[in-house]
Amino acid sequence: MTVNGNSVSDASIRIDDENDIVAVLGKRIEVRKAVYLMMHKPSGFVCAKRDGLYETVFDLLGDPYRTPFFEENLHTIGRLDCDTEGLLILTTDGALTHRITATKSECGKTYVVRLAKKVRSEEGAAYVCKCAQGVHIEPEGREKEADCKSAELVWLGSGDEKDECTLTIYEGKFHEVKRIFSALGNEVVYLKRTAIGTLRLDESLERGGCRELSEDEIELLYRI
Ligand code: URA
Repeated sequence: MTVNGNSVSDASIRIDDENDIVAVLGKRIEVRKAVYLMMHKPSGFVCAKRDGLYETVFDLLGDPYRTPFFEENLHTIGRLDCDTEGLLILTTDGALTHRITATKSECGKTYVVRLAKKVRSEEGAAYVCKCAQGVHIEPEGREKEADCKSAELVWLGSGDEKDECTLTIYEGKFHEVKRIFSALGNEVVYLKRTAIGTLRLDESLERGGCRELSEDEIELLYRI
């Protein structure tokens, strides 16, 4: 493949679909721009193309994204649990998905968490410390070990007893946030992702709403 006459082999190269001339075996081809969508995922929807039990996040998309092309190529960058809400990115850009979800990627994902049990300040400080050190969680499935990487916990609200915080994790173990708090002796009763790297959820999007990312927002994801 050539871009503006220069041979290219890097699949993650960014192409300006308006100005670049792309050719394969010397023949110019039409460039289809990758699609990047931000969704405010509601609780009760699964991040899968199909599910026997629940509706999926793809069921929330409008008709323009229900063509055979999107059916095959549009996917979520990572997954949120069925009962988790918040920031979900859907894209046709597999290279970006790989950058963000690869095991060695240390992309931060920030969640607002509400806990079942209120925590007093001393115990709260211990949670912060343990998260920073990396919580040991019980291995699940094919995991050999399950020591979480350092995570940042920030308590929200005032008062002596707290049950809401944000947690930023830098990996994506299965049910990681819920398992971290379970290992700390608590339970997550509400979970919402508010940021991936420096890209924040657009809170003006209603639950179940979706919009295309701006060029600046795509740039933020590429800088991760
Ligand atoms: N961690 C969880 O436990 N659930 C999610 O949906 C995301 C992160």
